[in-house]
Amino acid sequence: MRISVLGCGYVGAVTGVCFAELGHEVFFVDVDPAKVEAINSAISPIFEPGLDKLLAKNNAVISATTDIHQAIQETEITFVCVGTPSNSNGSIDLTYVQSACQNIGQVLKQKDEMHIVVVKSTVLPGTTEGMVRQSLEEASGKVAHVDFGLASNPEFLREGSALADFISPDRIIIGTADDYAHQTLGELYSSFDCPKLCTTIPVAEMIKYVSNAFLATKISFANEIGNICKKMGIDTAEVFTGVGMDHRINPAFFQSGIGFGGSCFPKDVRALIAKAEELDVDARILKDVSRVNEDQPLKMLDLLERHVPDLENKKIGLLGLAFKPNTDDVRDSRATPLVKELLRKGATVLAYDPMAMGNFKRLYPQIEYAPSADSVLEADAILIATEWEDFENLNYQNKIVIDGRRIKKAREGSTYEGVCW
Ligand SMILES: NC(=O)c1ccc[n+]([C@@H]2O[C@H](COP(=O)([O-])OP(=O)(O)OC[C@H]3O[C@@H](n4cnc5c(N)ncnc54)[C@H](O)[C@@H]3O)[C@@H](O)[C@H]2O)c1
Repeated sequence: MRISVLGCGYVGAVTGVCFAELGHEVFFVDVDPAKVEAINSAISPIFEPGLDKLLAKNNAVISATTDIHQAIQETEITFVCVGTPSNSNGSIDLTYVQSACQNIGQVLKQKDEMHIVVVKSTVLPGTTEGMVRQSLEEASGKVAHVDFGLASNPEFLREGSALADFISPDRIIIGTADDYAHQTLGELYSSFDCPKLCTTIPVAEMIKYVSNAFLATKISFANEIGNICKKMGIDTAEVFTGVGMDHRINPAFFQSGIGFGGSCFPKDVRALIAKAEELDVDARILKDVSRVNEDQPLKMLDLLERHVPDLENKKIGLLGLAFKPNTDDVRDSRATPLVKELLRKGATVLAYDPMAMGNFKRLYPQIEYAPSADSVLEADAILIATEWEDFENLNYQNKIVIDGRRIKKAREGSTYEGVCW
């Protein structure tokens, strides 16, 4: 099939390159010319393990452009993969989705052949059949589900293992209200050997939010239990190993630590809370999930101050800036509240991350960035905020280490505190 992908970020880039790998022709569109140029030079616009290689391998069937007109005219399906960040009140900002859909609609107006628009961006139930449909219909003068297909196909990939997650997903969710989109997407995904759920558009949209909200809840629950275990001198990791052995309880996402970050969990939980409020529902569990998550990184500073009571003019080393290992994404990274609070307390921060220093520097140009993980160890004390494998190879002897991510090696010969253990 000929597929266009709007948005060449973490989801769009992976989606397009994986479809190319599966034998489809892919046209990327982005408003950022640097991303377009990168793809056309066979360089991944984001860091994701294996993506550069797969992009180069499928170069012949991939092209990128800022010209949406050509991309829509020459393809049969468009995946909308633009960002849906948070507004300041936590609600979802649909500016990019709306603008993308208005642009698609303008091209559909001039297109004779049938076309399908698939929303892969994470949007609240009601968005695709509401704002998306309205924008497409107004700009095209055509009717959704009749003159063009419309569907929701939420994405569940995890940064850092996105290629494997996309190619071998746990499930594929397709929400549609027209046979054409249902049939075409069924064909597109026919080679995927996983459970597939075809449902309505609002159910598909809600499945994505509930999945993320549940995983976020598991993490905050693990952290709350971890905080109790810490006070009792109990190893929380062993507790969750035992708990996870119950077949009714999946062991995944039960690691205590300093909480969840990234571009999805925090903003999706916030968006669901805001939606609940709009509907006059008090989402008490979700609010507490967020609250526990906001407090959790600051527990590291309480532990740090036990060993370094006055942080004024102290140099604090920070290992890890990405929200998780194997990505350069720093959106809602747990390193951010740590840096903010350390600076507020008058400390200087010496940070290192194997991939994310460039992105973090744009947010915090005022902190020091170390040339290597080793050089962070010169600081007065060290905080570990991301579980990069490299951090298992350092010599932490005689250092004060506050560990948010359970790096085994950090305990050897150091003055060591684990956040929940
Ligand atoms: N990152 C993840 O792990 C992940 C996983 C599942 C779902 N999602 C969801 O997928 C969506 C995209 O997330 P992301 O992390 O890839 O975002 P991103 O910010 O990395 O990428 C979005 C891209 O869209 C581009 N863009 C904005 N407006 C555009 C327009 N009108 N036309 C073309 N391109 C445009 C931006 O320039 C950017 O390159 C979000 O809704 C997110 O919640 C993300």
